[in-house]
This record gives sequence, C-alpha cells and structure tokens, in this order.
Amino acid sequence: MAKRHELEVLKGISLEIKRKETIAVIGPSGAGKSTLLHILGGLDRPNEGKVLYGKENIFDYSDDQLARFRNKEIGFVFQFHHLLPEFTALENVLMPGLINGKSFAKSEKKAKEILDLVGLSDRISHFPSELSGGEQQRVAVARALLNDPKILFADEPSGNLDRSGGEQLHNLLWQLNDDIGITLFIVTHNLELADKADRIIRLIDGKIDNLEAEKK
Ligand SMILES: Nc1ncnc2c1ncn2[C@@H]1O[C@H](COP(=O)(O)OP(=O)(O)O)[C@@H](O)[C@H]1O
Ligand SMILES: [Mg+2]
Repeated sequence: MAKRHELEVLKGISLEIKRKETIAVIGPSGAGKSTLLHILGGLDRPNEGKVLYGKENIFDYSDDQLARFRNKEIGFVFQFHHLLPEFTALENVLMPGLINGKSFAKSEKKAKEILDLVGLSDRISHFPSELSGGEQQRVAVARALLNDPKILFADEPSGNLDRSGGEQLHNLLWQLNDDIGITLFIVTHNLELADKADRIIRLIDGKIDNLEAEKK
C-alpha cells in the first residue's frame, strides 16, 4: 500500500530480458516508462522488488558497488545528450574509461574505435556545440558504449531530433545490436521505430499491457 505522499508508479511488473534482445517501451506520458528504465538500469532503487542480472539482485549492492556495476555493465542514453560542452567529442567519449580506471591511452584508443563505429571519425575534435543534434546523440551513444556494456538503456533518445535524425539514430542502435550484440531497451514515442524491436512493451498506468507484451 502506498503511504501518504508516496506515489505508487509501477505495479506488479515482471519482465525478463534476454541477451541481445531488442525491446521497445511505449505508452502515454506519466505511465512510468522512465521510472522503469531507471530501476532496471540501477539508477533508482525501488521500494519493493528485485532486478536480477544473472543471479545477482543489483539492489543488494551498496551505492558504490551499484555505481561501479552501472559503469561497467550498462550504457545509458537520454533525450538530451548531456555531453560536457567544454570537452571535445573524443574527450567526452573517453571519460567513462578514466572513471572505470582505464589508462588515458587505452580509453582514447577505445573512444576512437567507437566514434568510428558510430560514423563520427571525422568529428572527434569537435565540441558538442559544433555538432548537429543527431551527431550529438551519436556521441552520447558512443560514450555509453565505452566500457563495453551488455545492455543499452535509451529513454526517448530521438525525442529531440527531427524525423530523419531520429531514423538515423535508431538505425545506428540496431546496427550496434547486429554488430556488437548489445541488448537494447528503448523508450520511444515513435511507433514505426518501436516496430523494429523484437518485443514491444506497452506501459499503461504503471502496468504492462499484456496484449502488447506478447512476442510478435
Ligand atoms: N522524482 C519523482 N518524484 C515524484 N514523482 C515522480 C518522480 N518521477 C516521476 N514521478 C511520477 O511518476 C509517474 C511516472 O513518471 P515517468 O516514469 O516519468 O513516466 P513516463 O516516462 O512514462 O512519462 C508520473 O506520475 C510522475 O509524475
Ligand atoms: Mg519518461
């Protein structure tokens, strides 16, 4: 039971994600999509419930352990790129490597490889303000991939892009799923793009709408 001033956002959600699977999450604003993504990605702790990666419940970890786990295992992309404006594309992308304890040289090498993978090898010394919205998001994707995460959580990653920029970004995400086998969990309003996913999860009022939850 929700206490006073406590809002019950997600209700009775049970969900299993397989490695390399692509999942699109749709549903009206306020349905709990972002909350679900934050909990599955270990950014927020739920009041109740577990999130298991393999056999480990990530909410048994301390905050420090959870932060390390996220840095190594999970990539995030949001609607806004959150790139640091005073650093170049390359510097932004290599930063999670340094945070993870990799050397500068190793982080930089990896960052260059990934920027190449997302089609931005000719933009590595540009600052975020010198890039288009679509390019900024691709840099954000590259940054999310630096530590070889197994799963990428994206919360309306194309919400701020025009139609063609959005299409390009989604194509890139699916290309990454093909090329490096990364699992995708993507919240999107774009039904056309959601349709490319192996599975569409529709959230309504904090619950999974079962009709849509079935495999296509
Ligand atoms: N930090 C917060 N504090 C209080 N309520 C929140 C917070 N974040 C989200 N909510 C509420 O939780 C519900 C689900 O929000 P959210 O997960 O952002 O939905 P969606 O991403 O589907 O639009 C909404 O009713 C929202 O107002
Ligand atoms: Mg949201």
